[in-house]
Amino acid sequence: MCGIVGYLGKKQAVPVLLDGLTKLEYRGYDSAGLAVVNAIGKIEIIKAHGKLTELKKKVKSCGKTIKGLCGIGHTRWATHGVPNENNAHPHANDDGSVVAVHNGIIENYSELKEKLIKRGYTFYSETDTEVATKLVDYYYRKYGEPLRAISEFAFRVRGSYALAVLFGDYPNEIYAIRKDCPMVVGLAGGECFLASDVPALLKYTRDVYYVDNLQITRLKQGKAEFFNLDREMLSLPLTHIDWDLKAAEKDGFEHYMLKEIHEQPAAVKNTLNCYLKNGKIDFSEVKLSDETVKSTGSVIICGCGSAYHAGVVMQYVMEDLCRIPVRVELASEFRYRNPVVAGNELFVAISQSGETADTIAALREAKRLGIKTLAVVNVYGSTIARESDFVFYTKAGPEISVATTKAYSAQLIAGYLLALKYGVVRGTLTDENYRALLNELCALPDKISEILKEQSAVQQFASETVNRENVFFIGRGIDYAAGIEGSLKLKEISYIHSEAYAAGELKHGTISLIESETLVIGVLTQDKLAEKTAGNLEEVKSRDASIAVIAAEGVKIPESCGKAVVIPCTDGHFTASLSVIPLQLYAYYLSVLRGNDVDKPRNLAKSVTVE
Ligand code: F6R
Repeated sequence: MCGIVGYLGKKQAVPVLLDGLTKLEYRGYDSAGLAVVNAIGKIEIIKAHGKLTELKKKVKSCGKTIKGLCGIGHTRWATHGVPNENNAHPHANDDGSVVAVHNGIIENYSELKEKLIKRGYTFYSETDTEVATKLVDYYYRKYGEPLRAISEFAFRVRGSYALAVLFGDYPNEIYAIRKDCPMVVGLAGGECFLASDVPALLKYTRDVYYVDNLQITRLKQGKAEFFNLDREMLSLPLTHIDWDLKAAEKDGFEHYMLKEIHEQPAAVKNTLNCYLKNGKIDFSEVKLSDETVKSTGSVIICGCGSAYHAGVVMQYVMEDLCRIPVRVELASEFRYRNPVVAGNELFVAISQSGETADTIAALREAKRLGIKTLAVVNVYGSTIARESDFVFYTKAGPEISVATTKAYSAQLIAGYLLALKYGVVRGTLTDENYRALLNELCALPDKISEILKEQSAVQQFASETVNRENVFFIGRGIDYAAGIEGSLKLKEISYIHSEAYAAGELKHGTISLIESETLVIGVLTQDKLAEKTAGNLEEVKSRDASIAVIAAEGVKIPESCGKAVVIPCTDGHFTASLSVIPLQLYAYYLSVLRGNDVDKPRNLAKSVTVE
C-alpha cells in the first residue's frame, strides 16, 4: 500500500523517481506525485489523480522539464480523504519549504491537527500526511534543525509511517524515518536511493540497508547516514539482494501473475533446497532448536487471506503427521478476542510481505502473551521477520502481482517442512516415513511443471465458463483448504462471486443458492474422501448446477462428475501444492477473458499495511 521513492545524485531526479514509482505500482495506488528541488533551489511539486501515466503526462517529456538532482515521489492508496489530486502526496507547509511523502496511518492526526490549528496552521487537504508535514515544519521552525524536527515528530506521533522529507534550506539532502512501514536505502557510485521496496532500487544497486523502526535516514553527498531518536549516529549492516532485476520484471509473460504461476516449480525447489542438507531438514538458519520443537505444547498459526489459507493446509498436515494440536486463526481476529494460551505454544505468523498490519498486530499480541514466535515470510528484513524469535524465509523471490501464487506455494513448503521436522523430532514419524515424505516433497517441482504444461486445457475451460456469475468450490480436508484459496483467487482478480465450502457443509443451508447457472468445482485428491465429495457433487448436479472436477491421478471419480482436470498423484498431505495450480490458472484466464487488470485488481493493494 502506497510507495515511496527518493533520489539524490548526478542524474535528473524526475525520470529516476518515475521509474522507481513504476516498480512500486504493484503495491496498489490511486494517485501519485513527486517533489524535486529545482535548479534555483525551490521545491517543485507535481501530482495527479489516477495511474502513473497521468503523472507522466503532467511532467511531460519523461520529466526532463523539471530540472533537479534531488527529489521524492509517492504513489498513494487512499486512507484519509478521497483519492484526488489535492489529497495526493507530496504535501507541503505554507511556503513550500518543507515537503513530505508518507506511507501508513497517523492515528492521532486529529489531535495533532487541532494543536497545529491553535498555533496558526491551516490545512488544504483531508490527509493525515499534511498534518505530519506541518508537524515536522513546526518543530523545524522551533529547533532549526531537520534531525531534531524529525525526532520530535516521532515522539509526538502514534501510528505507522514511512516518511521522506525535503527541506528547502537543505536542497541536497533527503531525510526519512519509518515505523512499521518498510523502507530500504541503496547507494551506487555517489548516488543515493530510497524506496518502500527493493524492486525500485534493483536497476541501480543490489546492496541495500534495511532501515529499522524509529531510525532516521539522512541522504547526503552520495552517503547514507542513520541516527536514533537521540540523533546519535548508527551503523547499519549492508545486505546483498540475491535476486536480479529480471526477477522483478515480466520477462516475456503477458502478466506478472502468469510469470509468477510459472515460477512456482523454482519457488518450491529453492525453498526446499534452502532447508534440506544431506537429505535432512536443517533448520539452523531458522534457529528453531529441537528443544523448542520438543517442548511445544500446541501450535497457533495466524495470517491473512492466502497466507491464512496456507495455514489451513498446514493445520491439516501438522496435526496428522505430528499429533500436536494446531489451531489456525485469522490474524485480524486473533488480536481482538483475548486469546487463552498456556505459554508453551509456538505462534506461527505467515506473511509474504512481512508487513501486513493485522499479522504484525497478532504477532505482537502473541509476544505480549509470552509465546515463542516463528515468522514464515518472503521479504527479507520485513517487520514480521525482525520481530519474531525464529524466521523461516520462503524463497519465492519478489512477488509483484497483487494476487499471490508463488509465495503461497512456498508457504505450503514451509508448513510441510515444519510438520516433518516436528514429526521426526517428536517421534511421530519413523525415519522411513520421514525419508519417503521428503522424497515426495522433492518431486513436487516437476509435478507442478507437468500441470503447467497442460494450462491450455484450463484456459479452454475458462473460456467455456466465462459468463458464470457464481462459482463454488467444494472439497474435504486438504481439498477444502485448496478450495478456499482457489475461491479467493477467483474473486479477487475475476470479480466473479465465489464461495468455498467444506463439501459436507453445503447442504446445511448454502445449497439453496445452487441453481442452473451455478458452477460447482470439486477438488478430489484424497482417496478416502473423494467418494463423499463426489456424492456432494451429485447433489448439486441434481439441482441443475454444472459441475467440474480437479482430481488426482488414481482417485476414482464417477463419470457423471463432468469435466476433470487430472493432476499427478503425490502423498495425500501435499496435494494442495498441485491442486492449487489449475485453480490459479483458472482465475487468471477468467480475469484475462473479462478484460480485468490482472496484476492490479480493483480496490486491492499488495501489502496491506493498515488494519
Ligand atoms: C491474495 C493475497 C492476499 C494476501 C494477504 C496477506 O491473493 O495476496 O490475500 O495473502 O493480504 O498478505 P501477506 O502474505 O503479505 O501478509
